[in-house]
Amino acid sequence: MPTKSSLDKSNLLSDLSPYIYGTTRLGDEKIPFDDRVHVARLAMEAGVWFHTSHTYGDALQVLRAAFDQDRRHVPRLIVKIGWSRTDELREVIHQNLDPLGLGVLELGQLCLSGSLAEEFANGGKCYQTFAELKREGLVRRFVLEVFPWTSDMALKALRGGYPEGIVDGCIFYLNPLQRFASNELWGLMVERNEPMIAMRTVSGGNVHSLRDVPGYAWKPYLQQRAVEVAPIFERSGIASWTEFCVRFAHGFPQVRATVGATSHGDRLKEFLAAAENIEPLPADIQNEIIKLQYRWSDELDIQAEPWTM
Ligand SMILES: NC(=O)c1ccc[n+]([C@@H]2O[C@H](COP(=O)([O-])OP(=O)(O)OC[C@H]3O[C@@H](n4cnc5c(N)ncnc54)[C@H](OP(=O)(O)O)[C@@H]3O)[C@@H](O)[C@H]2O)c1
Repeated sequence: MPTKSSLDKSNLLSDLSPYIYGTTRLGDEKIPFDDRVHVARLAMEAGVWFHTSHTYGDALQVLRAAFDQDRRHVPRLIVKIGWSRTDELREVIHQNLDPLGLGVLELGQLCLSGSLAEEFANGGKCYQTFAELKREGLVRRFVLEVFPWTSDMALKALRGGYPEGIVDGCIFYLNPLQRFASNELWGLMVERNEPMIAMRTVSGGNVHSLRDVPGYAWKPYLQQRAVEVAPIFERSGIASWTEFCVRFAHGFPQVRATVGATSHGDRLKEFLAAAENIEPLPADIQNEIIKLQYRWSDELDIQAEPWTM
């Protein structure tokens, strides 16, 4: 029997676009500034949400230029905020909103460490601060960022019920090669029907390149996972890796959106096309990857030192 709280979650984050434009590639200074503004404008015209951070090179300057060209299509944003102390939050929010000429953050991604993470796990005073930020209208909603190495913090908080009514869901890497929530946390989130935002739609690039091109995968484990997943992708008969990945992420009913990045207009079109009328993957294909992810999580993810994967 689902609990009352699991039933109540279906409306949370239901207004996100199924594909969210990730902006890391907008901070790549090797690409001419105007070309980056152009891709940002294409994504704005498509009406999707954006995910960004002041830590993504000069991405905020690119976004500001794009917004100033077309204020009617300024997207709703997910922004990374944190980090280790409650009294840092406000400053980090302004570091993002001010350069963009915005007064309100639609969705704050809580990236927590140190004493702030401890408070979060134990139902501490950070929840009052989150509630204040909402009351003031500086942040409308929050989601919690999760990694394998922060899964225990999230698990403790969720078990305690502290985020209820204040934090609307979790955001983490979720794609065919990565599921960055520990098996235990994943189990609880699925059982409770916690809203999820899946990051890194295509796992960093095409699966065949990740498998075959030396140095393409930024860590060896991703290359090894691509070796395991490529035959499953091929067996699906789906021609496009982007489509396969969007269908994989949205194969979980808790997933509201998948966040993927590109600096190319044609690849953006591929993301957008894949996010129209999304059909889940065939169950056997989806289940095969889910099974791999349980194994990978125990074998590698939860043993990993922070930020090593
Ligand atoms: N902790 C966090 O909050 C966190 C961490 C990671 C990511 N993110 C968010 O999630 C977004 C996506 O993450 P990501 O960029 O790491 O992963 P991703 O979206 O899976 O991969 C993007 C990479 O793949 C390339 N690409 C895109 N479409 C492709 C295609 N059809 N064929 C081949 N290559 C393709 C892009 O390069 P081109 O530009 O050359 O297309 C880019 O280098 C980020 O922009 C960011 O907003 C957040």
